[in-house]
Amino acid sequence: MREFTYKSRDGEVRVLINVNHEECLRGLLSNYTGCAAFVSRSIPGAVKVGCPVMVIDDGESGKDINTVLNIIKWVHGLGLDRDGVFIGVGGGSVLDVVGFSASIYLRGVDYVNVPTTTLSMVDAALGGKTGVNALGIKNVIGVIRQPRAVIIDFSFLDTLPMQNYVDGFAEVIKYGVTMDEELLEYVIGNKDALLSRDGEALEWVVYRSLINKARVVERDELDRGGERVVLNYGHTVGHAIESATGFSISHGRAVAAGMICEARVGVRLGYTSPDVPKTLTHSLGSYGLITRIDIAGAIGSIINAVTRDKKRSGNYLKLPVVTDVGRWELVKVGIGEFTRLVIEECRSIP
Ligand SMILES: NC(=O)c1ccc[n+]([C@@H]2O[C@H](COP(=O)([O-])OP(=O)(O)OC[C@H]3O[C@@H](n4cnc5c(N)ncnc54)[C@H](O)[C@@H]3O)[C@@H](O)[C@H]2O)c1
Repeated sequence: MREFTYKSRDGEVRVLINVNHEECLRGLLSNYTGCAAFVSRSIPGAVKVGCPVMVIDDGESGKDINTVLNIIKWVHGLGLDRDGVFIGVGGGSVLDVVGFSASIYLRGVDYVNVPTTTLSMVDAALGGKTGVNALGIKNVIGVIRQPRAVIIDFSFLDTLPMQNYVDGFAEVIKYGVTMDEELLEYVIGNKDALLSRDGEALEWVVYRSLINKARVVERDELDRGGERVVLNYGHTVGHAIESATGFSISHGRAVAAGMICEARVGVRLGYTSPDVPKTLTHSLGSYGLITRIDIAGAIGSIINAVTRDKKRSGNYLKLPVVTDVGRWELVKVGIGEFTRLVIEECRSIP
């Protein structure tokens, strides 16, 4: 078991790793007048802590404004007041939609994240980015508001299909390649233990991933042009791939392809060591995260999505670029140049 806290403008956030979620939740709930739990449709019986439970359709199709309205209607019917708490139990899609609903219900109530996928354990549960997709655009509606606690119970991973399980390693490899070479080496060197879901190896990787993310969030919580942009490495192209393919490719695999593409573009721009795309291809490939994506067929939509990317400033994108494994810098690239290099470098991945 590991525990740490991080500071935010909403107060201190507790992060508990490799714990029993029901024991932890029971301890927390005594601070509130009421609770409402929102649980992924994949694990409907997951939480038995005495809160009313609403089952949520997860995946990108459930991450929309109608789900938010249904949640708000339901909790309002329950009479949950401003001293109540929402508990989100699911993958990143459920946590994003529940966190967003909590942030706007009665102008904001507390929420607790209980992630149930590897990706949500190492990334989505921490950092306070909440939101939904709309107009075919990923996360176009949302706010930044921190959870009160993140409770990580590895027993949820017992039912998670392998394809979803490995998705989270795209984000772990992202932390490694951008800011933590030791983490990347560990993930490459302990692949067998991690793929067999060994608790000790997982605990270290989840802890190290979340500590990296938490320290970045503490320094640039609101993502105002500071360090937090690094967490978006691979996501400019990754989100574009997700949108262009109608979200038929998982977030983890889209980010994996996005990182390889952005690394190749970085090499062409003269910032990135040629070792970086090679290391990414090797590490992501060893976790089965490289999917052949028909970028050529989706290039128009990708350009469209890139030009609407939230990192755009006028005719430029401000992108995190990995210079060498474990090091990155912020680079301003013209949108025209960036899209031209994406077309030239990323038609075929790997
Ligand atoms: N807010 C953030 O900071 C942040 C960061 C990264 C990703 N995200 C978002 O997270 C989402 C991706 O998250 P994800 O990869 O967890 O996907 P997901 O939430 O879509 O879940 C993937 C699948 O796993 C199933 N599932 C969940 N838990 C399960 C379990 N324990 N056993 C069996 N099946 C289970 C779900 O039903 C779903 O089919 C994307 O929408 C992405 O944008 C948000």
